[in-house]
Amino acid sequence: MKIIKVANAEEGGKKAFELIKEGMDKGAKVLGLATGSTPETLYKEMTASDLDFTDMTSVNLDEYVGLGGDDDQSYRYFMNDQLFNKKPFKNTYVPNGKADDLATECKHYESIIDSNPIDIQILGIGQNGHIGFNEPGTPLDSLTHVVELTESTINANKRNFEKVEDVPTRAVSMGIGSIMKGKKMILMAYGEAKADAIKGMIDGPVSVDLPASALQNHSDVVVIIDEAAASKL
Ligand code: GLP
Repeated sequence: MKIIKVANAEEGGKKAFELIKEGMDKGAKVLGLATGSTPETLYKEMTASDLDFTDMTSVNLDEYVGLGGDDDQSYRYFMNDQLFNKKPFKNTYVPNGKADDLATECKHYESIIDSNPIDIQILGIGQNGHIGFNEPGTPLDSLTHVVELTESTINANKRNFEKVEDVPTRAVSMGIGSIMKGKKMILMAYGEAKADAIKGMIDGPVSVDLPASALQNHSDVVVIIDEAAASKL
């Protein structure tokens, strides 16, 4: 893993943007995108840039079960609002959290990933080391699946909802195996709350107990972190 230390999230967003630009110059056509507060500075850089994404495809990591794209807590809404409404892409994929048959939706989403191989995968990390919504215990070869969110994740994400009872308890998420299919990984983490997860991901054993540790088995991973997230390394 290549570790890049930055002063803050703004600088981290600029770094990640440079890597995406470089990748696009070399022919990258598919971006794997993430939600959460971490990639927001990257999306700001992308929208402020003069880069053209109209020939690009994006594939997002996950979506809450039960929320549709017009729900402002959904990840589809977040992506439209933060990026796609300002910088149009050729195609944008986010799992359908309102699908009647979630098992079929998961299979369908995995086939989207296979037909649109991800050149650059953007990742944040949960405080418990989750990537996408792959909570501890998720098999490292898992494909797109329905996830029961842990209490820790529900609590961490409740800040975006009016009350904790409003946070969905399930999500559709790319699996760890689906994520690992991507050619290049860029994981960003800022703040003290991520320090344990970053330590475990980099220095700990590869284990289902800390899903992001699977990235140790990937040959092209760039980790962009601030001092606080790096403080336990
Ligand atoms: C959610 C998302 C993850 C994200 C994580 C961290 O659980 N499913 O993709 O990495 O939150 O969020 P934040 O970047 O807001 O700390």
